Amino acid sequence: MATLPERVTITEVGPRDGLQNEEQYFETQQKVELIARLGEAGFSRIEAGSFVSPKAIPQMRDTAGVFAAMPRREGVTYVALVPNAFGARSAIAGRADELATVVSASETHNKRNINRSVEESLQEIEAVAGLASDAGIPWAGYVSTAFGCPYEGDVPEQQVVRLCQRLRDLGAGVVALGDTIGAGNPRQVASLVRVVQDALPDTPLRLHAHDTRGTGLANVFAALQEGVESFDASVGGMGGCPYAPGAAGNVATEDVVYMLEEMGIATGVDLPALVEVARWTEGIVGRKLPGRVKDAGFTSATERE
Ligand code: HMG
Ligand code: MG
Repeated sequence: MATLPERVTITEVGPRDGLQNEEQYFETQQKVELIARLGEAGFSRIEAGSFVSPKAIPQMRDTAGVFAAMPRREGVTYVALVPNAFGARSAIAGRADELATVVSASETHNKRNINRSVEESLQEIEAVAGLASDAGIPWAGYVSTAFGCPYEGDVPEQQVVRLCQRLRDLGAGVVALGDTIGAGNPRQVASLVRVVQDALPDTPLRLHAHDTRGTGLANVFAALQEGVESFDASVGGMGGCPYAPGAAGNVATEDVVYMLEEMGIATGVDLPALVEVARWTEGIVGRKLPGRVKDAGFTSATERE
């Protein structure tokens, strides 16, 4: 049995990856309240929104307003996803603490998502890296469709490795492997994490799991066993990817926190408070969200009447 870490870092991505794919549009104030509640539940990292084309993702059209209005807690890193230099400038103007860039391992998905070839996206990311460096903030390089593409199917590991190397060379502080359509299985996750770690021994890895096919938690555990200590998750499991047909939400944060804390791995998140946020989020989203612990309770079967 591999040695597991004593603590891991969770980035709550619900306000971005979750809300971007909900059909209903959320008012700026609701987003601000969600971010405030997540901060109170103890997250040290929250992806608060994305600076993207409002034509591409209308749900994120008010991200500048969200960044202006949200209360900022001491010790919390507020991340903004940006696809290009335009977005990076807006995010920096909005006082984002950190940027997340995104490029897909498969050409077709990148074209649909970013309207650019992979090479063109890397050029944009180079510009983002320059802006982040000038602003003195770090950035993470996300590789989408790392475990499978809805258009191209299997994605060769070496294709992902090469992209991770390019992102590292451009200055990414972290490289995140995105299972955009929840196609990965635990053996595949372990294998890809290992080859990426071998190729980038000094770059921390993050797993960004979606739970489309129910493998999300198992994939988190597989990455954990390979030494990954940074994970993305979305409160209630809301969300998906608008350019990935069939993609469901990220693995539910409260389920990840429950699993890890029960295993004796600290997350810094207050689980009862998070469960309350998940239930509140379900209320504002207005549909049943897939997270399990918000329904089952976290201490005993009688916790929730
Ligand atoms: P484009 O249409 O090719 O853009 O879209 P353009 O460069 O030709 O510009 C067109 C217009 O958009 C111009 O305005 C630009 O100023 C404006 P106009 O002259 O027509 O008035 N524009 C912008 N506006 C706001 N923010 C910007 C921006 N950039 C240009 N950043 C573009 C290209 C990249 C902008 C577009 O395709 C886009 O915004 N894509 C983002 C799509 C997206 O957000 N997808 C979901 C996030 S990624 C994800 O979910 C995966 C992840 O979770 C990991 C995983 O699951 O694997 C991270
Ligand atoms: Mg995602």
